[in-house]
Amino acid sequence: MVSVRKLIAGNWKMNGLSNQIVEAVAVAEDLARNPPKARVAICPPSILVHRIAERLARSIVEVGAQDLHGEAAGAFTGDTSGEMLHDAGARVVIIGHSERRTLHYEDDAVVSGKVNAALRAGLEPIICVGERLEHREAGQALEVVCQQLERSLPMTLDGRAFVVAYEPVWAIGTGLTPTLDEIADMHRAIRTLLVERFSNGAARPILYGGSVKPSNAADILHTQDVDGVLVGGASLLAKDFLPIIRAAE
Ligand code: PGA
Repeated sequence: MVSVRKLIAGNWKMNGLSNQIVEAVAVAEDLARNPPKARVAICPPSILVHRIAERLARSIVEVGAQDLHGEAAGAFTGDTSGEMLHDAGARVVIIGHSERRTLHYEDDAVVSGKVNAALRAGLEPIICVGERLEHREAGQALEVVCQQLERSLPMTLDGRAFVVAYEPVWAIGTGLTPTLDEIADMHRAIRTLLVERFSNGAARPILYGGSVKPSNAADILHTQDVDGVLVGGASLLAKDFLPIIRAAE
């Protein structure tokens, strides 16, 4: 079995004014004193990417974005391209988060196009998939998630660095989580799909996301085939995010 370095990624969503930057700096300073085994990334709102990237320039903490436009530049009012995010200091980008899929009607084809845009811009995509509660209750979770993945992962990813995040829609921001067995089953299915499709599929990190907090992080991070976590609410404050990072050890 290939061992994959764990990745702990924070998704700030649409939270944080300039005074939130101190939280990213506090995480970076703590990790500088005591370097973690895991890779760590913080994905702030795009308006803060540049300022945080400058503050964390010499830190091991990577800065990422939460979305990007499919094109490099052009007449797309209000949008931000991967090239712009990379220029601002981002190195990873979340794509296909369920809030984008639901609130911005992004389907798998859009997600796949954005994955290609991320690769073009030199950003490592964190591609999100996850079932709704009705799928879970109907016993269709594995099938739904694998179908989303098949359609969201372009073959151009072969040999490239990318990350998959399994985020059950019903677990995001709700305090609910699947059982550890359910997480392990899903991650095993995702691993099988990645190994079948990509020459480097065995070594790609598969993250779990949805109501990860300091109290459940260690159990989740030590579940089979879980190579890290994507953390929303609990990534906003260094005092919550740091124990999750330390739980990976
Ligand atoms: P949550 O969000 O940790 O607040 O549930 C996770 C996510 O949406 O990535």
